[in-house]
Amino acid sequence: MIESLREALSLSPNNVPLRLLLADHLLKASLLDEAETEFRTVLTHDTHNKTAKRGLSKIYFEQKKYSTAIVILEELAEQENDVDLWILLSKASLRNEEPAKAIEYYKRALSLNPAYKDEELDAHLKQGSNSNPSSMNATIESIEDEMREFERPSINFEDVGGMERVKEEINIKIIQPLQHPDLYKAYGKKTGGGILLYGPPGCGKTHLARATAGQIKASFISIGIHDVLNMWLGNSERRLHELFETARRQTPCLLFFDEIDALGASRTDMRQSSAKMLINQFLMELDGVDYSNDGILVLGATNAPWHLDAAFRRPGRFDRIIFVQPPDMGSRESILKITLKDKPTKEIDYKAIAKETPDFSGADLKGLIDVVIEDKLRDSFKSGIPQPITTKDILKAVKQVKPSTKEWFNSARNYALYANESGLYDDILDYMKIKK
Ligand SMILES: Nc1ncnc2c1ncn2[C@@H]1O[C@H](COP(=O)(O)OP(=O)(O)OP(=O)(O)O)[C@@H](O)[C@H]1O
Ligand SMILES: [Mg+2]
Repeated sequence: MIESLREALSLSPNNVPLRLLLADHLLKASLLDEAETEFRTVLTHDTHNKTAKRGLSKIYFEQKKYSTAIVILEELAEQENDVDLWILLSKASLRNEEPAKAIEYYKRALSLNPAYKDEELDAHLKQGSNSNPSSMNATIESIEDEMREFERPSINFEDVGGMERVKEEINIKIIQPLQHPDLYKAYGKKTGGGILLYGPPGCGKTHLARATAGQIKASFISIGIHDVLNMWLGNSERRLHELFETARRQTPCLLFFDEIDALGASRTDMRQSSAKMLINQFLMELDGVDYSNDGILVLGATNAPWHLDAAFRRPGRFDRIIFVQPPDMGSRESILKITLKDKPTKEIDYKAIAKETPDFSGADLKGLIDVVIEDKLRDSFKSGIPQPITTKDILKAVKQVKPSTKEWFNSARNYALYANESGLYDDILDYMKIKK
């Protein structure tokens, strides 16, 4: 076979598929050096040929030239996102005495195919964790962190019920500038800056942020400010910088700062100066003075915007502040529809349920459906037949769930009345029907 391929190739030396076929056969026959020559020849004609790179990486691995294999594989695995490549990269890293990287790559493989098992990797990486649990755990933690940073949400605006005004603001303020930067430039309109979402818990701030990333197929990095403050105390500035850098490397990217008020509120917990430094670092990264923030969208969320340092609200920072209110009737209807999608139901009267659930947050509505489903499951166990969810089931369960948004308004009310600089919280007063 090899001989006849060689012969054919001598007649048409520029036939790349033919040469790849030959190289592959040579590789299978463990004629590594010869296979390498053929793959290399392909690459001199076609520098991006992935099949040739894949072949070369296998050869170098077999030849125990692990660091060379790693160089090829790191690029290729990222491009192809293929289980076999991640596994080979993981093994090469392990043998190159880089266990942390080996774990990371193994996890990338497992995220594509959770059922995949590799005995060699399992054995070594587990053994490592026994001999030195703390360092291994730390590695795994930081890897999980890294994974979280690469999230690409699968939900989009359609999975968010109601919130039309907030969606529109997000669209105009951050999505359109990202997609049509030239248009904005032509009109001399500045882009940049972020949106701060605030309001009672469970009303969809985090959900919408995630859906915004999904809407434009951006990666999504969610950062709990408490994480930054607590876990990396003393190292927070570096940590923040790294987060922004990760985002800058994978644009378009939505950076979502959850519990952002913690930055301001933490001042009492931390020594004044270190908190100040962290805030300054944050604002610098946000301003994108030293590094470009092109392709980065910024959203923040908080239940307590009044704790946030006013410096955050300057132009180019969180210069748009939006009140995310509890869902109105129509929104409750669409949240219920979204929540019950793909569940066994029978002619649900969404309007009737929406009417009976004033002050319910999105999370409360989801909780309500959870209660109903648990009841249904219990019934189904008894009868052995799954019964569809009905309007009556849901209305019955409404009494078991307490709406959670009222409490928030009790405290928000005071800030809106007495700390309402330049009408910042007028939306709260409007919502509560309090006269200004
Ligand atoms: N508008 C909505 N459409 C669909 N689902 C929603 C909506 N609002 C809330 N939910 C559901 O409720 C859950 C909780 O909402 P989410 O975590 O976004 O609230 P939040 O405003 O971020 O609350 P917190 O202030 O406590 O962080 C979501 O995971 C989602 O399933
Ligand atoms: Mg949230």
